[in-house]
This record gives sequence, structure tokens and C-alpha cells, in this order.
Amino acid sequence: MAHVMAASELVAATIKRPLQNDDDNGSADEKPKLARRREADPAAALAAARHEFGEHGGVNMSIEASATFTVMEPDTMRRLFAGELGPERGDLYIYSRHFNPTVLALGRQMAALEGTEAAYCTASGMSAISSVLMQLVGAGGHVVASRCLYGGTHALLSRFLPRASGVRATFVDVDDEAAVRAAVRHGETRVVYVETMSNPTLAVADIPMLARVAHDAGAKLVVDNTFTPMVVSPARLGADVVVHSVSKFISGGADIIAGAICGPASLVNAMMDLQEGALMLLGPTMNAKVAFELSERLPHLPLRMQEHSRRAAEYASRMRRLGLRVAYPGLPDHPHHARLLAMANPGYGAGGMLCVDMGTEDRANRLMHHLQNTTRFGLMAVSLGYYETLMSCSGSSTSSEMPPEDRARAGISPGLVRMSVGYNGTLEQRWAQFERALALMQQQHPDRDAAAAKYCKV
Ligand SMILES: Cc1ncc(COP(=O)(O)O)c(C=O)c1O
Repeated sequence: MAHVMAASELVAATIKRPLQNDDDNGSADEKPKLARRREADPAAALAAARHEFGEHGGVNMSIEASATFTVMEPDTMRRLFAGELGPERGDLYIYSRHFNPTVLALGRQMAALEGTEAAYCTASGMSAISSVLMQLVGAGGHVVASRCLYGGTHALLSRFLPRASGVRATFVDVDDEAAVRAAVRHGETRVVYVETMSNPTLAVADIPMLARVAHDAGAKLVVDNTFTPMVVSPARLGADVVVHSVSKFISGGADIIAGAICGPASLVNAMMDLQEGALMLLGPTMNAKVAFELSERLPHLPLRMQEHSRRAAEYASRMRRLGLRVAYPGLPDHPHHARLLAMANPGYGAGGMLCVDMGTEDRANRLMHHLQNTTRFGLMAVSLGYYETLMSCSGSSTSSEMPPEDRARAGISPGLVRMSVGYNGTLEQRWAQFERALALMQQQHPDRDAAAAKYCKV
């Protein structure tokens, strides 16, 4: 019990610490809360978060690369394990799977970004998602999940967790409030799980409605916000927990695998419980060097998201004018356009992801071949949030874990090309490359394409 208290008090204390660059006149303990209430814009909240300085006064924080931490007196160790001392009580640490100063600092930035009380950073998006689900849903518990989720999450909920811990998941069309209400089992459903913008179909979840349904049933709403950092802040709309694959837009470099769990301090504390916490005991710990790298990238996430969104919006409307079947929630005729506008933070657009449905996998592959190998518009690769445009045929790649009938129900057609729109090069240079690749693809197989083209045109 002493250990439980230790963990919870450590994180709570972290959150209460005064911001170093806050000019608010309130008492030190109230400042973070006030700052968060005032800063509805995630960029403002990020800038208001405490700035860590380096050991020698450096403008960047130092990297605490140690796995373990020494004490001067034996009694200090006892007091650390008893919870009398800790990160915020004497700046003392035990072991980096528990708390590491550099990883904690990144957690503070993530909490500011998502407007949550606390956040903890993990080694991957999947470890963030699996740890949260294992923490919130006990053995045999029930989850109501969106039909359209990242393939790995779908496999976790439909195969791994049922096998490993008897968790049962019901997949529903989360657009249909009645269906979600019918799927929720009072007293059994622990979590309603959705992606803000679904991978890969870009359906936008109605977060306030889903939060109401989850809360009416005593369940938590967990939202994967990987596709829309800055654009939407699910916790500000009623979600209880926000998870991220930080490997994507937040990293921006396609060079790091990382994740984050943003939520109430009580959840993060429970997950760090020395006896029962999923994070503490499964150990998906982020390396301090990685945390440092990421903390250097968060300050320009707002700028990057604005440009990803600007280009995706422009390409989506130009593709539409060419007669392609394009899905982009920023287009006024997208079924969830108004919903996204109502939920979005002003100034960050509709995100950097778009989908073009080429009708068949063969046409999708030929288009991607020319886009990469002939005109160099982008790269055939899974993942997203890179400065280069990345494209993949979802049905045969990131959603291939889903059985074909589930893919069809989720609206993932075989010719769906998912694009993460990059921002390097000029917009016009890239657009010319796109048009040339499309023309080459259409010239090469006019007969074979005639039937499919009918399908592709809007
Ligand atoms: C929406 C979404 N969530 C979670 C993940 C898993 O993240 P990671 O690869 O960082 O484990 C992905 C990966 O593609 C994803 O697209």
C-alpha cells in the first residue's frame, strides 16, 4: 500500500508543480490547472507547459540516461520505497522503469497537448493501447469498439485479448448511437474504444455523443488520436483517456516508435502502481534518449500539422475536380465534415490524411508505382506523419489483419489508397507529380481501366 501511495503521490505532485514560464499570479499549486483551463488551443497549452532547462543552464533539458539512481544514505532508499521521497519530493528517483526525469518531462508536454491532468510515454503506440486496455478492462470484461480501427488494435481486441484474458469485444458502427447503446452492457462494459479519425477510412467519431453513452453505462471512453493531434483534443470533448502512436505525426521523422497515454492522474498513477500497474509490470518503458528527441519535436508539431492539413485539403479538392473518388473530412460533402468542424480546434485544418479509392488493388498498385518510381510524388510505405508523402493500399497492408468480411463492413475497399500528405517540396511541384503519375497509369491500361474508372469517379 505504501508503494501505491508512492506512485500516486509522485504523479499528482508532478502535475501540481508550478510552471516556470507562467506569468499567472495565482498560487503556485493552482497555476497548471488555471493555465490548462485558459489554454483551449493546444499550441498555447504546449507553450505554457513547464520548460525544462539543462543541467548547466542549457536551453534544452539534459538527458537522464541512467537506468538506476544512487542515494547517499541507506535510509533514503527506504524512504523512497515507502513513498516519502520521490521525483517531486527531493527530486529523487529509484529506477527508470518506474520514473525517469526525461520521460516525465515529455509526459508533461503530452498532457499539455491533450489537455489532460497527466500523461505517460511508452515504447510504442501498441504498448500504450494494450496497457490501457489491460488496466481498465479486467479479465472477462467487455469492450465496445468501433468497427473501423487500425488493424493492430482490431487484432488486439478481436484475437489477443480474448485469448490472453477473456476480454470480449463487440465491434459496432460508432456513428449509430442506438447501436452503440445496444452494444453497451451495464456493469460489464468497461471501455468504449474509438479512433478520432479512423484508420484508414477517415470516419470522424462523434466524441461528445460517445462520451455520454460510455458514461451512462459507467464505462470509460478511450480515444486514439494518432491521426489528429492538434486538430482535435478528445479529452476536451469528454474522452476519459487519449492514446497516441507517437511514432506518427508527433514524431514527424519516421524514425522513432513511441506511444503515449494521456488521462487523469488517477489512471496514470494506477498504471504505475508497483504491485498492480500495467505500465509498471508490463514495462513498456520509453528510453530517455527517445523522450529527449521527441521533446525537441513537439514545439513544431502545430506548424507541421497546419502544413500537412493545408496540403491535404488542397490535393483532396484538386483530386475531386479530376473526378477521383477521394475521402477527406475537410471536404464539405464528406459525411462527417460538419461534425469535424464542430469538434476541431480552429486553425489546424482537417488533418493530413486522405484516401483515394482506385476501385481495384491493381489500379491502386499501378498508381502508387508511378507516384513513387516514375514521378517521385511520395513513398510506398505504411505509417504516417512524415515530411514525405507516404502511401499504402490499406486492405493489403495495415488492415490486412482484419478478415475480409470485417474489412468490407468497415468500408475498406480493396483499391483504397491511404495517403499521409507530406510537406516537403512545393505544393505545385508535388501536384504536377501526382497528375503525371495518374495520366501515366491511365494511359497504360485504358481497356482494363474502363470498368474500374466508372467505379472510381464520383
Ligand atoms: C491509429 C493507430 N494507432 C496505433 C498504432 C500503433 O502504433 P505503433 O506502431 O507506434 O505501435 C498505429 C500504427 O500504425 C495507428 O495507425
